[in-house]
Amino acid sequence: MDLGNGDGDATASELLQAEAHVWNHVCSFINSMCLKCAIQLGIPDIIHDHGRPMTLLELVSVLNIQPNKAHCIQRLMRILVHSGFFELRDLKEEDRQTGYALTGASRLLVKSNPLSVAPFALLTLEPFSMEPWQYLSAWLGGGEDVAPSTIEMAHGVPAWELSRRDPKVSVLFNEAMASDSRLIAKVVVDTCGGVFEGLSSVVDVGGGSGTMGKAIAAAFPHLECTVFDQPHVVDGLVGSERLKFVGGDMFVEIPPADAIFLKWILHNWSDEKCIEILKQCKEAVSSRGKVGKVIMIDMVVGNQTEDHRSIETQLFFDLSMMLTFNGKERDEKEWEKLFVGAGFGAYKIVTHLGLRSLIEIYP
Ligand SMILES: C[S@@+](CC[C@H](N)C(=O)[O-])C[C@H]1O[C@@H](n2cnc3c(N)ncnc32)[C@H](O)[C@@H]1O
Repeated sequence: MDLGNGDGDATASELLQAEAHVWNHVCSFINSMCLKCAIQLGIPDIIHDHGRPMTLLELVSVLNIQPNKAHCIQRLMRILVHSGFFELRDLKEEDRQTGYALTGASRLLVKSNPLSVAPFALLTLEPFSMEPWQYLSAWLGGGEDVAPSTIEMAHGVPAWELSRRDPKVSVLFNEAMASDSRLIAKVVVDTCGGVFEGLSSVVDVGGGSGTMGKAIAAAFPHLECTVFDQPHVVDGLVGSERLKFVGGDMFVEIPPADAIFLKWILHNWSDEKCIEILKQCKEAVSSRGKVGKVIMIDMVVGNQTEDHRSIETQLFFDLSMMLTFNGKERDEKEWEKLFVGAGFGAYKIVTHLGLRSLIEIYP
């Protein structure tokens, strides 16, 4: 059959390859759902607590599942081995037996691991996070009367309002952010603590429940750290001698300091809103007569050009920001435009932190 667009020239093998490509992408969500299921069942925790590779029988005996579904666990584990979350190891002492072991990725899903990213995975795969995706084409095709974001189409309110109104969403969101901050704080303290040298004060704008602020204050005893966030996020949080919590609105005023720390803030906002925030940051680091800096952690899309999967992940996040906040992930040129637009004179990408980068911005 010639469809008049060149398909008639495709070989059988090309057609089947194209079909396989479509199927793979159509079914990709199954990877995400199996991962969520494994976290919910506590499989990484169970294998971790076992202390050595676990046979299917051992795993099934500990899991809280119906006995007639035991064989389903083998199939669940098969796809999770395939996607790199577990490894099947030979158990030498027990003849011809194999056992499931953790990999670097599933170690990060063990809930007792201080660097666990399980809360971030669970937030991303919550039904309320996934529902807006159902509205993408309607949102793109909608006219003036369509809601400003898919999250509003799905839930009737913007993301920050949803989190303000629903304590369950707020708790899940703040815990997910805190889990990411625990991991990034360790990497920053271990590998690029130099960015805090010479500073005496830092304000972590949008610092949530203070995970990053606490880590910075603990690692750099010369620093006073202020965690600044929306009043409902910081209300009731208790600081310490060198750590305080301040509620407010970053679009109105940011407390003055030698440095403003912005982790995972600007990707939530449009270019116009980012410039407003950056102008407030500039005011805050210049207002004491000193000339400070902004330290930002966010993605620089394409910072790992040779790695196809990293770029794909950055593009996933870009779409996710578009749907959730009308925000975006930016490449270096787009960042530069914002820094210039807010009146900053220079910037330096200090280091790449995997998918994200640490950037210093100078007034
Ligand atoms: C994506 S979270 C990042 C949290 C934290 N920096 C981290 O990386 O874990 C964005 C944060 O910005 C805060 N935020 C949103 N609007 C704000 C505003 N107008 N003023 C101050 N903080 C705000 C949110 O409450 C939230 O804690």
